[in-house]
Amino acid sequence: MLEKIKQTADFIKNTIKEVPDFAIVLGSGLGKLQDEVEAIHILEYPEIPNFPQTTVAGHGGKLIYGILEGKKVLMMSGRFHYYEGHSMETVTFPIRVFHLLGIKNLILSNACGGVNPAYSVADIVILKDHINMMPEHPLRGKNIESFGPRFVDMSEPYNRKMIEAAEKAAAENNIKIHRGVYVALQGPTFETPAEYGMIKAIGGDMVGMSTVPEVIVARHMGMDVFCISVITDLGGPDIAFAVSHEEVLNAANKAMPNVIAVVKGLIGNYQ
Ligand code: HPA
Repeated sequence: MLEKIKQTADFIKNTIKEVPDFAIVLGSGLGKLQDEVEAIHILEYPEIPNFPQTTVAGHGGKLIYGILEGKKVLMMSGRFHYYEGHSMETVTFPIRVFHLLGIKNLILSNACGGVNPAYSVADIVILKDHINMMPEHPLRGKNIESFGPRFVDMSEPYNRKMIEAAEKAAAENNIKIHRGVYVALQGPTFETPAEYGMIKAIGGDMVGMSTVPEVIVARHMGMDVFCISVITDLGGPDIAFAVSHEEVLNAANKAMPNVIAVVKGLIGNYQ
């Protein structure tokens, strides 16, 4: 696996020839952020050696290298989910590659279900923490010491400075923003009312099917991580609204201008 990661990183390095300041992973329905980048290179996943391929509607499948708010960014449009049948190694493969490219800052985004009663559909939430309830840990197995230690500190999974920079950007743009705890489940079913109740009871504000494996692997390698979520539906023990993928995409679409403003503000101001 290490050889494959190196091979992929070398291929991308030879194309972009620079070290991006940020890697950005676009979540379900959040692909529009890619239109904000002044693209210099676009690499379709099938042309990148060893790169996994996407299977979900609403996910693209390309790496875009370019400039956003004066910073060099490598944007990943189309991520890999555990529920698709990918191994955790595959899900987190791009994050390993980003590290070998020398990227220090990782911005993730996702669509998720809200269980905090203060949240509404299309609200945006910045992750302050998470609870990992995925059935497999991405660091299980032999540790690769060159990436990081066997036992990884997780006291600051989401970088405080990046959270503050994003909140400043939100305030400047009059965007309401929450700080929340994300609970990761494997999916692909949305939660039952009782499961939404459990998420709330254990201290979660929202629930989704991605992000946490990437965060863990990034922290293993000492990358600074930031994540912005869009609440695409609401759930709870006494709420029995039906949720569909289409609804998720619609809500993500509605929140998109706010997501773009916050991410651009964060990137533009961040040193
Ligand atoms: N649960 C899990 N994943 C999700 C949800 C949800 O309610 N909404 C969007 N992704």
